[in-house]
Amino acid sequence: MADSFSLNDALAGSGNPNPQGWPGAWGNQPGAGGYPGAAYPGAYPGQAPPPGAYPGQAPPSAYPGPTAPGAYPGPTAPGAFPGPPAPGAMPGQPGGPGAYPSAPGAYPAAGPYGAPNGSLTVPYHLPLPGGVMPRMLITIVGAVKPNANKITLNFKKGDDVAFHFNPRFNENNKRVIVCNTKEHNNWGREERQSAFPFQSGQPFKIQVLVEPDHFKVAVNDAHLLQYNHRMKNLREINQVEVSGDVTLTSVSPTMI
Ligand code: GAL
Repeated sequence: MADSFSLNDALAGSGNPNPQGWPGAWGNQPGAGGYPGAAYPGAYPGQAPPPGAYPGQAPPSAYPGPTAPGAYPGPTAPGAFPGPPAPGAMPGQPGGPGAYPSAPGAYPAAGPYGAPNGSLTVPYHLPLPGGVMPRMLITIVGAVKPNANKITLNFKKGDDVAFHFNPRFNENNKRVIVCNTKEHNNWGREERQSAFPFQSGQPFKIQVLVEPDHFKVAVNDAHLLQYNHRMKNLREINQVEVSGDVTLTSVSPTMI
């Protein structure tokens, strides 16, 4: 690591339990074109690689989005990731070119490119053979089905679940997001969040950023929650699973 480089410098809000500016304060996300090796070639099982200069990002047309125009600057829409990364932040740094096992060929070749309607089959499983690591960003784009009951996003280590993110649309007539960890078939202590940005029938974008101490989740470009790592060996968390009452457009890992 370069002497002058601090991960916290590059990731504004890191370590802050509830950074208000996130994800807007992240610094630019130049996409794979800017970080050779930073995207995940071949990492799109069951889906077509996104076109254009930003592999790893949903194509702009894939996310019309319920929010105001201009809310998606940058790769997905203008301005989501303003500001360049710190100079010298990439080469030789975690997430820099060649710094993690995401080189072409490290991931299974993409399977059939999605269902005829262009959406991914749900439940959807994205293998992450090198596990997760700080600066890894997983972006999930889709839409909630009408009359949805739940959405489930699991970061898995074998049958264990390191991070279970579970929006419930009707738990005793309330909407709540339940987060938890499952080890040896036992659920741990739930962390509950009443802020609920999902709507039945509406498109969504979920971004999960892996940071050293926690997963950080934004929905539709607004920070939602953090979940402290309980499973500390991040490299063993090697699959993302998306299930529940959603149609899925893309599940894209990239590095920022
Ligand atoms: C259980 C539920 C699981 C999981 C868990 C989280 O009640 O059956 O699917 O959501 O809560 O604590």
